[in-house]
Amino acid sequence: MKRNLALFLCFSNLLVGLAVAEWNIKGLRIWKNNDGLDITLKNYCEAWRINVELHNIRNFEIVPEECTDYIGKYMSSTQYMVDSERTIQECIIYLSNSFTLTGDGKDGWIFDVDDTLLSNIPYFKNHRHGGEKLNITSFEAWVRESNGRALEHTLNLFNQIKRKGIKIFLISSRGEHLRDATTENLFKVGYSNWHGLILRSGDDNCKTVQQYKEEQRKLLMSKGYRIWGIVGSQWSSLLGLPSPKRTFKLPNSLYYDP
Ligand SMILES: *[C@@H]1O[C@H](CO)[C@@H](O)[C@H](O)[C@H]1NC(C)=O
Repeated sequence: MKRNLALFLCFSNLLVGLAVAEWNIKGLRIWKNNDGLDITLKNYCEAWRINVELHNIRNFEIVPEECTDYIGKYMSSTQYMVDSERTIQECIIYLSNSFTLTGDGKDGWIFDVDDTLLSNIPYFKNHRHGGEKLNITSFEAWVRESNGRALEHTLNLFNQIKRKGIKIFLISSRGEHLRDATTENLFKVGYSNWHGLILRSGDDNCKTVQQYKEEQRKLLMSKGYRIWGIVGSQWSSLLGLPSPKRTFKLPNSLYYDP
């Protein structure tokens, strides 16, 4: 991982070097990439963003310096809203085509909390849109304020799933010490009647987010739950075993939880 990051940094430094040279010569925000194609900073940063979503770029610690403005703009854009809405629409289509209630109370659905039910965009706006290494102290101070807004489309899905009689489990990488703040925030923006809110205990601290979430899923499935789907904004919420029937990833290029 360290090696990949180093390679990536070398690569992006090279691009920045090229870009500066080009700007100085032409005064235009156009670079030549390795194939001699003219590209803009926007092209470069959109390629970075889409490759984060495709899970080709992994384990990044910060958004590349030259792309923080672009990522900030995307995350507060209409496009981000439309992209998120499309993800949620696909969940609704899947449920209406594939879901039948069994009536044994064991139908389940999993949601992430961060940037799935609650938005952290205001926090990252004040921290260079992911361009700074995450400061746990200040991030947790933000969580304790319980002021995250709902992602409206996700709230809509949450309520539809509840009405279908599916039990909702929230599996979050937030620590157990943030339970009250998290619950308060969820209630405040309209989420209610979830079946379980699973947070990280002290024992989970040395696990990756993916390991922890796999274990929690395994526990639910061992109790007989059929997990119809997961919605999350991180690949670590969706990957690994045991698998749910479907996974849905919301866009999020602000941070990467391994
Ligand atoms: C992290 O945030 C806290 C609280 O805002 C601050 O006191 C501390 O200096 C920050 N740490 C770093 C490494 O920036």
